[in-house]
Amino acid sequence: MKSSPGKSDSNFEVPPEKRPRHIAAIMDGNGRWAQRRGLPRIEGHRHGVAAVRRTVEECVRLGIEYLTLYCLSSENWKRPKSELDFLLRLLEQYIVEERQTFLENNVRVVVIGKREGIPSHVQREIDKTVEMTADQTGLCLCLAVNYGGRAEILDAVRAIAAKVAEGQLSPNDIDEATFSAHLYTAGMPDPDLLIRTAGELRVSNFLLWQISYAELWVTDVCWPDFDENLLRQAIRDYARRVRRFGGLAVSPS
Ligand code: IPE
Ligand code: IPE
Ligand code: MG
Repeated sequence: MKSSPGKSDSNFEVPPEKRPRHIAAIMDGNGRWAQRRGLPRIEGHRHGVAAVRRTVEECVRLGIEYLTLYCLSSENWKRPKSELDFLLRLLEQYIVEERQTFLENNVRVVVIGKREGIPSHVQREIDKTVEMTADQTGLCLCLAVNYGGRAEILDAVRAIAAKVAEGQLSPNDIDEATFSAHLYTAGMPDPDLLIRTAGELRVSNFLLWQISYAELWVTDVCWPDFDENLLRQAIRDYARRVRRFGGLAVSPS
């Protein structure tokens, strides 16, 4: 995967300044992908990891600054323990196996979500990868693990309320920047493009605050079949959208 942005993307017509800085993805449809093939759901998750690798590699090639992947939601604990155990094992394996590739490709890994419920051996491996890649300056790969948008907002409210109670912060000084700085994603730009695979038209508690003005892009393709071409198509479509942010479109004349 060793590649540097600007070189290997020369056949991609969307210029770097028109590409999204931050792409977020709801990697959905692993179970359906497997079921359609008569396979157990976990096979979908296994093939999903290959799609993660492809997507990360392509983001590196295209010089994308941030990629946030929804790996496990706070609501996914409703699933059978055997499926959750498998997902956590896959995550641990991925985060260990990819270390060298992350280092070679200047990828910095960060993780958002709650630690509670994640087995301590998985937490240790996650922490190790995060620490090892902390000084890298290329793609920031943000893994949302045991993540819930509402829980994140509540955590921010609690942290802000504590500062107010201690007299460190006045309620009048709480603005959008203050709030963003107390989210798990503090310091990251909001996603420009939100991709969802497997066709559902919902956000499933993902980055609720941060996606206010994200461009949504949904495909019926299930996550294990997601690849470089679909990512490029999403970026192409994104580049053609007119983002108004509540204002008026800037006319060329
Ligand atoms: C996404 O695929 C992976 C996770 C939510 C962890 P699903 O497992 O939700 O697959 P479907 O939606 O049941 O097909
Ligand atoms: C969203 O997918 C969570 C992840 C991709 C990790 P779900 O499969 O959990 O979403 P719903 O249940 O269809 O809304
Ligand atoms: Mg699903």
